[in-house]
Amino acid sequence: MCGIMGYIGGRDALPILLDGLRRLEYRGYDSAGVAVYTGERLEIRKAAGKLRRLVEMVSAAPVQGTVGIGHTRWATHGNPTDYNAHPHSDCRGHIVVIHNGIIENFLELKEELHRRGHRFQSETDTEVLAHLIEEAYEGDLERAVRHAISRARGAYAIVVLSSHEPDKLIACRQISPLIVGLGDGETWLASDIPALLPYTRKVMVIEDGEMATITRDGVRITTLNGEVVEKTPIHVTWDAEMAERGGYPHFMLKEIHEQPRALQETLMGRLDHAGQISLDGVSLPDIFVERLEKVWLVACGTAYHAGLVGKWLLEHLSRIPAEADLASELRYRDPLVFGTNLTVAISQSGETADTLAAVREMKARGSRILAITNVVGSTLTREADDVLYIRAGPEIAVASTKAYLTMLVALTMLAIELGRRRKAIPDERLNALLYGLRELPGKAQDVLRREPEVLELAKRYAHCQDIFFIGRGLDYAVAMEGSLKLKEISYVHSEALAAGELKHGTLALVTDGVPVFALCTQRHVREKMLSNIQEVKARGAMVVAVAYEDDREVASLVDHVIPIPPVDDLLSPILAIIPLQLFAYYVARERGHDIDQPRNLAKSVTVE
Ligand code: F6R
Repeated sequence: MCGIMGYIGGRDALPILLDGLRRLEYRGYDSAGVAVYTGERLEIRKAAGKLRRLVEMVSAAPVQGTVGIGHTRWATHGNPTDYNAHPHSDCRGHIVVIHNGIIENFLELKEELHRRGHRFQSETDTEVLAHLIEEAYEGDLERAVRHAISRARGAYAIVVLSSHEPDKLIACRQISPLIVGLGDGETWLASDIPALLPYTRKVMVIEDGEMATITRDGVRITTLNGEVVEKTPIHVTWDAEMAERGGYPHFMLKEIHEQPRALQETLMGRLDHAGQISLDGVSLPDIFVERLEKVWLVACGTAYHAGLVGKWLLEHLSRIPAEADLASELRYRDPLVFGTNLTVAISQSGETADTLAAVREMKARGSRILAITNVVGSTLTREADDVLYIRAGPEIAVASTKAYLTMLVALTMLAIELGRRRKAIPDERLNALLYGLRELPGKAQDVLRREPEVLELAKRYAHCQDIFFIGRGLDYAVAMEGSLKLKEISYVHSEALAAGELKHGTLALVTDGVPVFALCTQRHVREKMLSNIQEVKARGAMVVAVAYEDDREVASLVDHVIPIPPVDDLLSPILAIIPLQLFAYYVARERGHDIDQPRNLAKSVTVE
């Protein structure tokens, strides 16, 4: 939820910390702060509000030094105020701590520390760590941090800087992500890779239960018991430019436009002309595929919506029963896992706490785990038996777009491959699907050319109170994603409905002038959709259809149509969502919202 940045080297730390926080701001943006060791003491600057408030503050009162830590916050304990912003310090200002996660037993620790005379400046759970370290410090910072951590329960990534030992940063991780960037005479720490890209592509992932001691010369990783852990650095293939806005007003718009390219990357080298799909990182043995009885698709939010499409594709193409589950529900509902099962965990970040917890639950029940993710080295990749990367490149906007599209492609390839291996797909169909997949990047580009029409629609409907999305089959899953996109950035109330369900209640809300987006790409239920469109039209709805460009009948029934190029119905979600992403974007822009950083939301939900 929060973003962490640390630097130790020969350069001025402040601009590096601020630049890193800017790149991490998508993780949290209700307050921010830095602490720098000036050569004599620790100086803290922190402010509630967006990062620019901190930038204003440090321009008025700069801090100079070559070691420092920075934090951008998404509040969990304590309101977003100046004093609750990180870093937090001990009573004497010799130790500063930044933290991402939740210390669950902080109240009991706080009371205990209070009784022993510690004075607290904030309402946060984090501050107890600074005081615990202060109490345990006897000339060895590593040891004091180890002691403090042994008292804390919960999820955390913390970084500690002390004026007692200013030649190092100490970091620990339990659940919340933390990456070390390695340079020549300088070392960085960050919650996520994009923050490190301008400086280095040589990284090392700190894992749960590990402590990293970071100096100018590199990093030493140990377990919390002090045993040394040997690791090889990973080379990241993303480059710094990929994590910049590149002339677009918002990351979201840039990422929507990157989708044809991202689709190409996802497909690259994976389809061969003999009808085979090679999914690098996935090695499901033949006997496993033969015996596979059930696939569970597990995810949150947009990734869950991709899972709904995946369920449909898997059942249809491989004839294996599949179920899509919200990770936050599955983990508490005592799922029945018998025989040979595969859990497909879908997560852009690979760090979503509920998804990881559900994966652990399914693993404990004997399921094999296949991860579909974007982030190399993320926690999910380490929990999984097989990893299928979506190769979307860095996704910075909170509202997920290109990750969703590429998840759909990854799921399609998986479903086709399982279907092929189980001999459930006739050759002709298989070849048609592979051909269809290859054509997707070009067709996605065609859909993007409809942007001016979508902008006009957004202007027309931006001030509506409610907007409904309806569809059947795969179109229903797309309707859910279109509705979520709209809600999260435009704050317009919206609902997605299986079109056949309308008359069971929600039709009561459809009155004169209410916009209804009708997705009409599923040919086998097209007639039924036409009836549903008539139903809402008869109540005065303004209907916008997303339909194949050759479907003149739909066009004649509705108020507006956004045409998409014809594709196999199983691939249509990959194109049909694009106009809905653009619509959400332009409605939010018309309403003057902060599109890349919508209220109350963070990109990566690493707390439960
Ligand atoms: C919505 C959105 C979220 C994420 C969800 C899961 O646009 O981005 O709903 O899809 O938080 O995130 P990941 O995929 O990182 O597990």
